[in-house]
Parts: sequence; C-alpha cells; structure tokens
Amino acid sequence: MMASGHDRAGAYRMGGNKRLVVLKAKTVREGVVWLVGAGPGDPDLLTVKALRLLGRADVVVHDRLTPQAILDLASPAARMIDVGKRKSHHTLPQDDINLLLTALAREGLTVVRLKGGDPYLFGRGGEELAVLRAAGVEAHVVPGVTAALAAGVPLTHRGLAQAVTFVTGHAASGAEPDLDWASLAKANQTVVVYMGLSTAPKIAARLMAAGRAGSTPVVVVENASLDTERRVLTTLSALGVDAAELDGPALLVIGEVAALENSLLPLGEKVSAQPTDEGSHRRLGLDRDDALTGLRDPSSVSLREPPSPPRGEGKRRAAQ
Ligand SMILES: C[S@@+](CC[C@H](N)C(=O)[O-])C[C@H]1O[C@@H](n2cnc3c(N)ncnc32)[C@H](O)[C@@H]1O
Repeated sequence: MMASGHDRAGAYRMGGNKRLVVLKAKTVREGVVWLVGAGPGDPDLLTVKALRLLGRADVVVHDRLTPQAILDLASPAARMIDVGKRKSHHTLPQDDINLLLTALAREGLTVVRLKGGDPYLFGRGGEELAVLRAAGVEAHVVPGVTAALAAGVPLTHRGLAQAVTFVTGHAASGAEPDLDWASLAKANQTVVVYMGLSTAPKIAARLMAAGRAGSTPVVVVENASLDTERRVLTTLSALGVDAAELDGPALLVIGEVAALENSLLPLGEKVSAQPTDEGSHRRLGLDRDDALTGLRDPSSVSLREPPSPPRGEGKRRAAQ
C-alpha cells in the first residue's frame, strides 16, 4: 500500500489510488470601492486619505460638479467616469451607479467613488455602501468636509447658538420640505439648510409661522470654498427675495451666528454680496464695527432692516 505524499507532478497522493490534483490557483485580484468625501470644492480641503486614494485609483467615478482641480489629483492612468453627464444631460440613476460600482470592483479594480462634501451627509453614501456590501464587494467610506463647515460662519458660538442642525430643504416639485418647524424655530440654535435655495421662501415662511423672528440673520453661501463663492447676508423675512439672486449650489445658514460673518472677513473686505439692482435686495444694516462688538458681546448687536424692496423686484430663479 502506497503511503500518502506528493508525487513528482505535484499531485497529492492519498491513501489507496486516489489522487487529489491541486491546480495552481490563478490569483484573482479582489476589487474594492472607496466612497470618498471630496469636500466642498477647494482641493486643499480634501483629506490626506482622499488624496492618497486618488493617486492609486484605477477608476474614479465622479459627479458633474466635482471641480477639475480635484480630478487632476487622480493618477494619470486612472479611468475617469462622470456619472453626472450623459447625452441627455441627466445624472445616471442611482441604481445604475450602484451596478457600475459593483461591476468595476468585480473586475478587480480599485475604485474611488468621489462624493461632494461628506458621503454620509445628504449624499446617499449609506445606500451605495449597503448595496456594495450586499453584493459582496469590499467597500469603505472616507469622511469629507461637509459644505456647512466651509460656510465661513461659526455654526455654534457662545451666547448665540448652543446647537446646530443640518436639514435638507429638498422637496418634490411643488411640495414643502417635511421638517419639524416648531423645533427648528427655537432660539439659540443654527439651522443649516442644504438643497434649500429653491424652497427658501417656503422655509422662511414656515420658520416665521413657527415663531422664529423675521429679523433673524441668514447668510446664503453659494460655492463655498471656491473662487466663485458668493455670499448674501439677509434676514429670514427677506430670504425668499434674496435667495432668488443665487444659482447654487448654496447653503442657507439661519441664526444669530450668521451676523458674525462680517467680523470674520479679512480686514478691509466689504460685507457680503453687493446688490445687483439698487433696491432689489434687503440687507442687514450691520457694519463691521457692529459685528466686531457683537463678537465681544453678542447681545449688543442690533440688526437694522432696510426698507422693503419695491413690489415685483427680485428675480426668482430655479435653483439647484
Ligand atoms: C446632495 S447635497 C450633498 C451634500 C454633501 N454630501 C456635503 O456633505 O456637503 C448637495 C447640496 O450641498 C450643498 N453644497 C454642496 N457643496 C456646496 C458648496 N461648495 N457651497 C455651498 N453649498 C454646497 C448645497 O446645498 C447642495 O445643493
């Protein structure tokens, strides 16, 4: 009886005449998907981890609004896929993006899925992660700087705001955002609204109806952190008119802290955006000295609301 052992061909000879032939296994490279927060737009606000991953990605899947300066940081050999641009100029449906990511990973590729800001904040990162993991694909999330943190406003501030809430102002066409207005209208807190430019008039009306003062400062920040950044400092009662001047992407930062932004601009810089048409905006009559005093003693800030614009003025644009 032959003893167990390897023969010259490399097969394992078991007891009896049975042979277990072990073929040299082909190494299958496992793919991986990294859901990476790209931050608000300024490439310097990428995390070190995001930068490293971009440098070694085989494929980068990104949205239409991802700045070119960030895409340029990817490996020159990386394949770039824009899921926000098709012939019809529509974004690829989420299900198709999920299928694409799964298929690329199954090809053994290292995939970086760039997502604006932080993947988990109004970014559908959780959905993409769940689908990938359910498909057996290795997937990880890399946090990013969310847009609110680049708005240039201290979102909490001693004596002015002890809490900050991030909400979405997105609503199905013609509908209203489904939010807890009574809770959001309470004083001493900052409310940051993402995707709220086109619903700004409804948001302002709801907050005021729930008790938030019409004189509450609001700063609308468009393209935060980018060279194209625009800011409008206004009040809740004038928000509907003033927000219509911007195109987005933009955030609404609602609360007393919004008035502090003036004091935080570099010395010599003028407050906020300039009115495009004389009288077409309502602006807070808050100057730099007021705001600096406000930082030392917020209760001393008095907000003077200029007169209402003539009826019919103030363009309303579809935003975002
Ligand atoms: C689908 S949400 C994605 C948010 C993203 N995940 C984040 O953490 O910032 C898109 C919205 O984020 C806001 N946003 C994103 N980038 C922005 C920027 N650079 N400036 C102002 N708002 C921005 C706008 O409200 C925009 O409509």
